[in-house]
Amino acid sequence: MKFFLDTANISEIEEAASWGVLAGVTTNPTLYAREGGKLAEFHDHIVRICEIVDGPVSAETVGLKREEIVAEGVELAALHDNVVVKVPTMPEGLAATRELANRGIKVNMTLCFTVPQALLAARSGAAYVSPFIGRFDDISEDGSEHLANVVAALNNYDFGHDVEVIAASVRHPQHVLQAALIGADIATVPMSTLEKCVKHPLTDRGLEAFLADWEKVKNS
Ligand code: G3P
Repeated sequence: MKFFLDTANISEIEEAASWGVLAGVTTNPTLYAREGGKLAEFHDHIVRICEIVDGPVSAETVGLKREEIVAEGVELAALHDNVVVKVPTMPEGLAATRELANRGIKVNMTLCFTVPQALLAARSGAAYVSPFIGRFDDISEDGSEHLANVVAALNNYDFGHDVEVIAASVRHPQHVLQAALIGADIATVPMSTLEKCVKHPLTDRGLEAFLADWEKVKNS
């Protein structure tokens, strides 16, 4: 499973990229707003991210009509080869995705929760489908079970193009574990989750013991 960072924060992207583990980035308007992003600078911001990350960078459209989504998507895709256009799962989004895919533009269909939605996303030509885990947990449903269903269902069919599943709304390492066991292609995670993924109390304890022993060796 590949790791994407779910953020619009440049420092976080630079840090994760410096670890050598970053395969892509997903952003959305909320994450951009959280960085104090301005509309006039949005495109430059996406280009900056693309220059840091050697992989797909999802930039979300905000239009609700297919023509608007297609126009935004074409503009975003022209910014950089790494750009993937992120489109919400809805009828206008499906129509726009089909048009964008016909033009050779990659789409990440987001806000996907169910198997029927995922199948429709794949049929519309989406290169990535993003089922959300955490938001199901928010309503006391098992998000990982829904993710498992989506992965199993998509694996049953040949869509005539590659479709990768991005486990999204991933809030903690347990979600990462579940996504990996299910066989999601990618988990997109906030930096805080990525940091938790690399840590374990036993690793810290092992490192402390190792350093203490090494001190003894050095002083012997
Ligand atoms: O990529 C989608 C993700 O940002 C949603 O996460 O935690 O807001 O459900 P969350």
